[in-house]
Amino acid sequence: MELTLIGIGTGNPEHLTLQAIRAINAQDLILIPRKGEGKADLADLRRAICDEVLTNPETRIVEFDLPVRDENTPDYRQRVDDWHDAIASAWQSAMAEAPDAARVALLVWGDPSLYDSTLRIAARLDPARQIAVIPGITSLQALTAAHAIPINDIGAPFLVTTGRRLRDEGWPNGVDTLAVMLDGGCAFQSLPPEGIHIWWGAYVGMKEQIIRQGPLADAADDIVRTRARARAAHGWIMDIYILRRTI
Ligand SMILES: C[S@@+](CC[C@H](N)C(=O)[O-])C[C@H]1O[C@@H](n2cnc3c(N)ncnc32)[C@H](O)[C@@H]1O
Repeated sequence: MELTLIGIGTGNPEHLTLQAIRAINAQDLILIPRKGEGKADLADLRRAICDEVLTNPETRIVEFDLPVRDENTPDYRQRVDDWHDAIASAWQSAMAEAPDAARVALLVWGDPSLYDSTLRIAARLDPARQIAVIPGITSLQALTAAHAIPINDIGAPFLVTTGRRLRDEGWPNGVDTLAVMLDGGCAFQSLPPEGIHIWWGAYVGMKEQIIRQGPLADAADDIVRTRARARAAHGWIMDIYILRRTI
């Protein structure tokens, strides 16, 4: 009994590797989460990927509703733990629709290693399944490709963090380059902008892709406005950015 987590890249079917396409076709069952109205595009995209590359007539697709996180639980870790338990149960129920399926897969946005809990949820399955991972293109790679930039300066480190941490804790010590993900509120606005360059992207890799770059002092307001407009137009947004100290 194997569970394969297949990294699918960030919304462009052309991000799929040959390994991912082979893995998709080797499955008995593919589970597709439905995340609710605002994020319908992502379920649609997973379906579109299957329509495009799935040629094995034996592979079944089962969709399930992703449980909603209970925001009333006061402790954050507990809230996330409970939510992951609920998702693992939802997978088990979906898998029960195809009880003979020995090879089951989930299509993971980007790559399962980066700000993604699919591996943590997979570890909760009972009985345990053997886990395999097929790597995918991350949103960070899609962003650096969109801007045609390297992520690090020569021999220098970089740090990947969240919008919340940047806002609450400020610029971390010891690095001049930050990649910021999971930022619902343009946390770069909390920094003194002088001497910082930003490379920003929304829907990177997708046909809706929007990118902006420039000195933070010049680019910040335009990014905030562009982000708000795009979010209103699409009903959802995913964005990511790199900040580099230039002095
Ligand atoms: C839960 S994390 C998943 C990351 C994913 N595993 C990866 O490898 O990129 C979601 C965050 O990834 C970033 N992200 C994912 N897809 C994106 C896209 N197409 N464009 C811009 N940012 C994206 C955003 O920062 C978003 O808040």
